[in-house]
Parts: sequence; structure tokens; C-alpha cells
Amino acid sequence: MSSIAELLASRSSLAAVSDTPGLDVELLLAHCLDKDRSYLKTWPEREVGEQQQQQFAVLLQRRQRGEPIAYLIGSRGFWTLDLRVNASTLIPRPETELLVELALEKLADTALARILDLGTGTGAIALAIASENNHWQVLACDVQAEAVALAQDNGQQNKIHNVEFLQSNWFAQIPVQQFDLIVSNPPYIDPADPHLAQGDVRFEPRSALVAAGKGLADIRHIIQQAQAYLEPGAWLLLEHGYDQGPAVRELLHTQGYSAVATRQDIAGMDRVSLAQYPATA
Ligand SMILES: C[S@@+](CC[C@H](N)C(=O)[O-])C[C@H]1O[C@@H](n2cnc3c(N)ncnc32)[C@H](O)[C@@H]1O
Repeated sequence: MSSIAELLASRSSLAAVSDTPGLDVELLLAHCLDKDRSYLKTWPEREVGEQQQQQFAVLLQRRQRGEPIAYLIGSRGFWTLDLRVNASTLIPRPETELLVELALEKLADTALARILDLGTGTGAIALAIASENNHWQVLACDVQAEAVALAQDNGQQNKIHNVEFLQSNWFAQIPVQQFDLIVSNPPYIDPADPHLAQGDVRFEPRSALVAAGKGLADIRHIIQQAQAYLEPGAWLLLEHGYDQGPAVRELLHTQGYSAVATRQDIAGMDRVSLAQYPATA
């Protein structure tokens, strides 16, 4: 039998696939032991049972082949929430929290906001916004039935009851109504992007990542369709690639939106463009 400290030493076997091998082995071992990471630091000399050691060895091997940690342990933190993840959709990214921050900024004075999240995946954005004010009503959709079920499960696990999830191809199944804010992190990677063959994204579904037209087809569709669903003066917030800001702003201007702007993420990269449906049409 090996001790916790001995098993954590296997971090060196992840050096080629991960920028954070130490953190990765801690997360995997803590998951197998059903403890948090502080337990590992407190009890480094404790022996690990045979079955847990075997489970750890299997997960370590899968990580060595490049599988994302979040899929291996089945969860990822986002905003203040712990979300279940699976291979039906994207693992929520820290940079997407910018969309949540901007949504909260725009809704600060709206007591009873109605919000739409398109392409909800795990439900990350919808649930994070809804968790900040239980008087707001959030509707969230995804085209993948499995993602909708996952997002519903995440709502229940996090005890958030003001989000309704439904399966829809963008606006197709959304009953016509006016929202105070529409938010989306749609697929926006160019199918020819070489990064699709590298790192964690190799294991994520292309349906969550890739869009035709150099990655802009879904963004263009949302910008065109959203106007019928926005209150005059309401906001549309879209995540996009670091080099897509000018193209997205151009699409927003062409469709007659006002107050068009792009905001940068924590790494200083263009990440979210936003615009207002004209208050006086
Ligand atoms: C980049 S992921 C974002 C997931 C989640 N909102 C997040 O930020 O972590 C894009 C999501 O859009 C969904 N999607 C792709 N095409 C769609 C469509 N035509 N209609 C609705 N959702 C779609 C995918 O299934 C995926 O869950």
C-alpha cells in the first residue's frame, strides 16, 4: 500500500500533458478518497486503500492521455457554484465569468428581470446569474438534450429554482416574449483552428466549440434573431474569440444595435461584445 505523499509524487508523470501537474494529482486523489485537498496536506503519511489506489491509477492514466480533469472528477467550480460536467458539453471556463459580471452590471437596477441564456451547456451562466437574485426569472436553452438534463440537475444540486431549461435550436422553441437581457457563450471556433487538435478541447464535443463561417455563424444568427426578443433598451452579451471583437462589433452595428462595445477578460484579451437594442426604434 502507498501513502498519500507517495501517490502525490506521481505528479511528475503528468508534466508532459499538464501545466498544473501538482494540482491535477491532488484533485484526482482527493476525488478518489472523497475528501477535499486540505485532507491530503494534513495526512500525507496515511495509507490509501487498495480499491482507491486502483481508481487513482486508472484516472491518472486517463489524465496522462490528456483527458480534462473536470471530466475525470465529474465537476468544475464556476462563480460560486459547483457544477457537474460531462462529455455532452463544454467545461465552464473562468473567462466566461466576465459574461456574468457584465450581466449583473447591466441588471443592477432591474428588480424583476427576465433573462435568456442561449447554449447553456452545464447551465453555468444561467445559474450564476439566477443565484444572485431570486426575483429574476431566467430561461436557458441548449440544442443537446443531454446538456439540458445536466443543466437541470445542476440547478437542483445548487438549489436554484428561478431558472427554466428547455431544448431548443437557438430561438426555435423559445416562445416569443421580451427579455431584459440575452446572454450567450455560443460555439465560436473556426473549424480550421489547429488548437482543436490540442489539449483539453480534443475531448469536448465539437457541437459546443465549432461554428461555420470562421467561427461566426452562430454569433451572426443570434445577433439577427435576438432583436425580436429584446425589450427596447435591453442588452445582448456575447462571448467570442480573442480575435473576433471587430467582426462581432461590425455585425452588431449592421443589425442596428447601439452602445456597441467589447470588454477584455482577466488575461487582457477581447472576450465579450455587448450592445443595446435601440431604446427608440
Ligand atoms: C461554448 S458552449 C457554452 C456552454 C456554457 N454556456 C458555458 O459557457 O460553459 C456552447 C453551447 O451551445 C450549445 N449549442 C450549440 N449549437 C446550438 C444551437 N443551435 N442551439 C442551442 N444551443 C446550441 C452547445 O451544445 C453548447 O452547450
